[in-house]
Amino acid sequence: MKLNPDIVPFDPIITQQDRHVMNAHKSGLVWFSGLSGSGKSTLAHQVEAKLYQKGVRSYVLDGDNVRSGLNADLSLSPEGRKENVRRIAEVAKLMVDAGILVFAAFIAPYEESRRFVRELMADWPYFECYVKCSLEVCEQRDPKGLYRRARQGEIKNMTGIQAPFEEPQHPNLVVETDQCELNSCVDQVIDFLNRQRLIILR
Ligand SMILES: Nc1ncnc2c1ncn2[C@@H]1O[C@H](COP(=O)(O)OP(=O)(O)OP(=O)(O)O)[C@@H](O)[C@H]1O
Ligand SMILES: [Mg+2]
Repeated sequence: MKLNPDIVPFDPIITQQDRHVMNAHKSGLVWFSGLSGSGKSTLAHQVEAKLYQKGVRSYVLDGDNVRSGLNADLSLSPEGRKENVRRIAEVAKLMVDAGILVFAAFIAPYEESRRFVRELMADWPYFECYVKCSLEVCEQRDPKGLYRRARQGEIKNMTGIQAPFEEPQHPNLVVETDQCELNSCVDQVIDFLNRQRLIILR
């Protein structure tokens, strides 16, 4: 997006690095993508709860929560979904700059949107976690009753039913929630954060 030349960002005194030292851990963005019901919210919030016990400052940006406020004006059309992802990515970037470990739990069904986030976060610690789960299992879980309503024709844009989900091709981490218990999935994410040295300050 072309910036207005009259906009002159102010250079902060306190840097992201300063905040990492103060927090004794790093910040970054982990984007959990996957079908509705795959377990993005469950996983992200469980990881956050475990990190809280370790004194790590993290925050979950969760699909429906953000659509209830900041993005309440956006539809579920392809354009609405892309703008949803763009705003979330920009908010997440500010939070990462603020020193927080951010977990974004959004379906993000389009590769184009995920590429946009990757490019936006190119110079920042950014990781894509594919929360993989078959459509059959997601439909059985159906925690919000959305699949049932989509099958009955009450919902028209359901990802996996009428709208596509383009599988992430090169995610940094894949967690298979239809193969592993929740606790094991949580540990896989925490191990990954450890390997990336995000929650250990050198
Ligand atoms: N290994 C697992 N990891 C995560 N969730 C699991 C797992 N096994 C079973 N579940 C269950 O699957 C459901 C996942 O629902 P959740 O709301 O987290 O999905 P979601 O991906 O956030 O969906 P949406 O995109 O609609 O917000 C929950 O009921 C959760 O208890
Ligand atoms: Mg969710």
